[in-house]
Amino acid sequence: MSHNTIALNQQQALDHLERVWLFGYGSLIYKVDFPYLEKRPAYIEGWQRQFWQGSHDHRGTPDAPGRVLTLIKTPGAICVGMAYAVTPDVFEHLDHREKNGYLRFFTPLHWLDNEINSDETNTAEGLVYVASPENEAFLGPAPLPDLARHIAHSHGPSGANSEYLLRLDEALREIGGPAHDYDQHIFALADAVRAFE
Ligand code: BEZ
Repeated sequence: MSHNTIALNQQQALDHLERVWLFGYGSLIYKVDFPYLEKRPAYIEGWQRQFWQGSHDHRGTPDAPGRVLTLIKTPGAICVGMAYAVTPDVFEHLDHREKNGYLRFFTPLHWLDNEINSDETNTAEGLVYVASPENEAFLGPAPLPDLARHIAHSHGPSGANSEYLLRLDEALREIGGPAHDYDQHIFALADAVRAFE
C-alpha cells in the first residue's frame, strides 16, 4: 500500500454527521492544531501504542526516517489517550497531517472521566488513525536500546524525534490512570532517550 493515505481516508463519507469523536494516542494528545468542540480522556481496548512507524515527513527525512507511533493489536491491552469532538471538515486537515501510512476507522471509545457524567453511557464510537504493518513506511519492532538511539538521533521538518517522545511521556503521565499499566515501555524508552541528552 502506498504510504500517502489521503485519498483512501477521504473515501470515508463523514459529511452527514454533525460531530465526530477523534481518538488521539500520540501527537494528537499534545499537538492540537485543529478546532474542537469538546475534549475528554478516553481509552480503547485491544491496542497498544508502539514506535514502529517510520516518519519521513515530520520527525525524520526520506533518507533517514524517524520513528513515530502506531497502534498494534494486542489482546488484553488498553490504550489511553484523548478524544476530541470535531466537525467533519477537520479531517481534511488531519488527513494531510497524518498522511504517511495512517488509515482512519471507527472503534469504541471508553470514557475515563465518566464519574463526572455518570448518568450517560460509558462508550462512544470514535475515529482513530492507525498505520498497519502493510504500509510502506512501517519499520516494526526493535530492541529498546536501538529504538532509543534511533529516536535520539532523528530530526525532521516538525522537529526532533526525541521531542515527540518526551512530550508524549509528559502527556501520558498527566492523564495518569490505567495508562501507566500499559505504557511502561514508553516510559522506559523516554528514560533511555533522556540518557543521550
Ligand atoms: C494520534 O495521536 O492519534 C496519531 C498519531 C500518529 C498518527 C496519527 C494519529
